[in-house]
Amino acid sequence: MAALTWTKLRSFHRYFGHSTLLKACFQYSQKHEHFCILSKCNDGFIQPVNVFYKRRSTVRYDGFSLESRNYTSALRKRQLVLGIETSCDDTGASVVDDQGAVLGEALNTQQKIHLMHGGIIPPVACRLHAENIEEVVDTCLKRSGISLEEIDAIATTVKPGLPLSLAVGTEYGKQLALNARKPFIPIHHMEAHALTVRMVEQIEFPFLVLLVSGGHSLLVLAHSVDRWSIIGQTVDDAPGEALDKGARRLKLRNIPECSSMSGGQAIEHLAKEGNPRAYDFPTPHVLSGGVACNNYIRSALQKLCEATGYQLLCPPPRLCTDNGIMIAWNGMERWKAQSGVIYDEEAIKNINIQAKCPIGVDLTEDVRSLGIKIQKWVKFR
Ligand code: KG4
Ligand code: ZN
Repeated sequence: MAALTWTKLRSFHRYFGHSTLLKACFQYSQKHEHFCILSKCNDGFIQPVNVFYKRRSTVRYDGFSLESRNYTSALRKRQLVLGIETSCDDTGASVVDDQGAVLGEALNTQQKIHLMHGGIIPPVACRLHAENIEEVVDTCLKRSGISLEEIDAIATTVKPGLPLSLAVGTEYGKQLALNARKPFIPIHHMEAHALTVRMVEQIEFPFLVLLVSGGHSLLVLAHSVDRWSIIGQTVDDAPGEALDKGARRLKLRNIPECSSMSGGQAIEHLAKEGNPRAYDFPTPHVLSGGVACNNYIRSALQKLCEATGYQLLCPPPRLCTDNGIMIAWNGMERWKAQSGVIYDEEAIKNINIQAKCPIGVDLTEDVRSLGIKIQKWVKFR
């Protein structure tokens, strides 16, 4: 691979402008057998994303613009992003490509240890992330069968989450990016949850997403990879937190088969044997989405969507609880859009974690002021 790096391309672009750069790229590709750059010229901004490895004879040169449309995907070098997650109690890493294929994944969950303590103790979570992160990332790369050199960018969760936990992944990811001279993509954990669906389903923006996890319960409108609006959120604990607290009170971890399950998993597991009519709840409750794994919730939402003419799409449960795949995919979404990709070394060094950070503009008051009435109650049972 020729030694024309991103950083070099960016600075070329800054100094020489667009057309000179394209011309230089073309000349460069003439001299280097296996290398050429095809640029999509959006708004005059070079997107050195489209790096193609191919035989020189197929290069087209059209004035100062190199045309990429006619190349088949087989000729295109696939883009690869490494994702790192440490926002809570899971140390995760994954490599995904631009088509949503997972090349490799590694995940170390601290669940069992935190269950023993009756909840997450932040310094303990931090120590476990620090002890495991290197092995998780190395294992993920090994399973992917690719070297760090082949990765296009490194994405890491930097917000929101437990500060001590976030700091481990963020510092590790930044250092990795700086050492390997790769661009860094800071990731918002909840955006990553919300975008996972686009890895497995062909769904275009905008879409409505219900995010139900251990710390959040949000109804969000996804306009694009970098624009989100909150249209509703919980006024109390997030459902996952409520399930975890309930499971703790009931000491479910003492039941052997539940000993390594999260509260939500344990309750779902035991509820399968329960009697849903044992108590008479006055109104039908639809609880909605780490919690989106829940089959009861999924089927309730399915019913609701069927009755109201909406299509319900759920990522597979494995992708709903925290993992490195969703971070790598969010990184890939941003990489493809060239939004929030940080190339500059100083800028990478200056990235900080944020314990709290809303996913987008909060429109909940506006929605409330509309006084929307529920027009149709759907009976679940
Ligand atoms: O997304 P996640 O791994 O972490 C956060 O970002 O919060 O979600 C973890 C939460 C925990 O509260 C756990 O009890 C809940 O998801 N959970 C479930 C299920 N599996 C995990 N809740 C209900 N049913 C499940 N099957
Ligand atoms: Zn999460």
